[in-house]
Amino acid sequence: MRQQIVAGNWKMNNTLSEGSALVSSILEKIHHPKGLVVLAPPFTSLLSVGVQINGQEGFHLAAQNCHHETKGAYTGEVSAAMIAQAGASFVILGHSERRQYFHETNEMLASKANQALSNGLRPIFCCGEPLDIREDEKHELYVETQLKAGLFHLDEANFRKVVIAYEPIWAIGTGRTASSGQAQEMHRFIRSLIASHYGTQVAEDTTILYGGSCNAQNAAELFGQPDVDGGLIGGASLKADDFATIVNSLS
Ligand code: PGA
Repeated sequence: MRQQIVAGNWKMNNTLSEGSALVSSILEKIHHPKGLVVLAPPFTSLLSVGVQINGQEGFHLAAQNCHHETKGAYTGEVSAAMIAQAGASFVILGHSERRQYFHETNEMLASKANQALSNGLRPIFCCGEPLDIREDEKHELYVETQLKAGLFHLDEANFRKVVIAYEPIWAIGTGRTASSGQAQEMHRFIRSLIASHYGTQVAEDTTILYGGSCNAQNAAELFGQPDVDGGLIGGASLKADDFATIVNSLS
């Protein structure tokens, strides 16, 4: 059974007090969500946000990244086991900002997915093409390479725990959203890739989120597409009203 999810990726925003105020306001506005609501604050707020959403129907906690090794001399890094013990059940992996600014490779991301899953965390695995690749019409091949290299080594039981987020880089934080048609086309393509690797039932059951300038105005149309199962929300997840409208756009 496919789950609908709206995940808020706070990125490097919100101190403890700012995060706490935002979560309080979100909790006032969202009741009985139609899917899972996943909040991904910075590491420093994982514990406190986890306490705030504890017992709230449909709410789950995510980290924005984890390291690809189990533990050791990696100053400044955080392991999947640490994140799991802090109360998270999801972890965002391979966000384009991580790939671009922190040089995360597909190979590293495959290890991160293994770390996450072996510590009980469900990866929200990001993929998506830059503008020049889209303009060259090579976007399907680009995303196929990311998914094959980062995820398709997993066995079926583990793959079933993964959520995929398609985020065209040209749409992230730019105000330029993929049209609902472009999103649907890529989501259907991703589902066909999953079907050819894991079979049609696994493909039908996989949650595929859209991300990139998804907002209160366009969420309903995007989520109305048959292969779009919710969103990974950046900027609009920092405003309780907008985030609640997006969550309430799940049908
Ligand atoms: P945006 O970010 O909604 O601000 O475009 C989405 C993301 O990067 O996950």
